[in-house]
Amino acid sequence: MAPRHFLTLLDLSKDELQTLIARATELKAMQHAGTRYEPFKNKVLAMVFEKSSTRTRVSFESAMIQCGGSAIFLSPRDTQLGRGEPIEDTARVLSSMVDCVMVRTYAHETLERFAKYSKVPVINALTDLCHPCQLLADIQTYIEHRGDIQGKKVAWIGDGNNMCHSYMMAARQFDFSLNVATPKEYQPHAEIISRVEGYVTLCPEPAQAIADADLVSTDVWASMGQEEEQAKRVQAFKPYQVNKRLMSLAKPDVLFMHCLPAHRGEEVCAEVIDGVQSVVWEQAENRLHSQKALLEFLLT
Ligand code: CP
Ligand code: NVA
Repeated sequence: MAPRHFLTLLDLSKDELQTLIARATELKAMQHAGTRYEPFKNKVLAMVFEKSSTRTRVSFESAMIQCGGSAIFLSPRDTQLGRGEPIEDTARVLSSMVDCVMVRTYAHETLERFAKYSKVPVINALTDLCHPCQLLADIQTYIEHRGDIQGKKVAWIGDGNNMCHSYMMAARQFDFSLNVATPKEYQPHAEIISRVEGYVTLCPEPAQAIADADLVSTDVWASMGQEEEQAKRVQAFKPYQVNKRLMSLAKPDVLFMHCLPAHRGEEVCAEVIDGVQSVVWEQAENRLHSQKALLEFLLT
């Protein structure tokens, strides 16, 4: 039987996603209570990182270790991938030795090629197209604070990047309405827009997007791989900074999220990310719990 993969949020059904998020909250309570739970005994996760990471690496590695399994960190610097071994060959070999593979790479197509040749589940740990694992944590965090996200108003302010695409897919899967405000030349991909019709509205102005929002999220203006565009992007994105004035247009009990790492003074002001509406630290912690739930779903 072909393995289940998690390449985008659309790979799981709405019901599966709801169950997974609820399970993440249970696993979090167990972890906080010091309950031993080792369903991944003798299971091995391979973690292929072609880009940097703090949260994703540590949360996946800790999730495996805490649940009785282990994880192997692989970078192009010290594997044959970096010397040109085809991704298809790497996929066939790795998946004959481990139980699950997590991949962080540039082109989403590279991940799809890997998954096509893998005998075991493959998890998207971020591509240029999307970052579905982050959305599991974000939705878990919202629900833990405010209850169901269905029918809520969410605002995405900034770049139409991998995180923006993930919020767009989440809007469809978790049934909330998403307003997206980006500069014209940095809009999300048309193909993703076409897949989320009825859930996502593109707004010309951040003020319009954030009006009455229950949740506001943003991300860096230059993602990994776009470092040389930084100066140009800072100019284009200046009006899209999430600051106190902009946040005051949202609902009074609005939550602020950021996948991190953040650049204070660029996409978000310190007074917002370090203020009372911000839940970014829980959001980061929930990467651990939601990915345990994801691994449990895929491995057991
Ligand atoms: N949010 C996130 O994925 O962080 P890292 O790049 O540190 O893994
Ligand atoms: N958009 C960012 C997200 C980092 C977690 C990037 O791709 O670099």
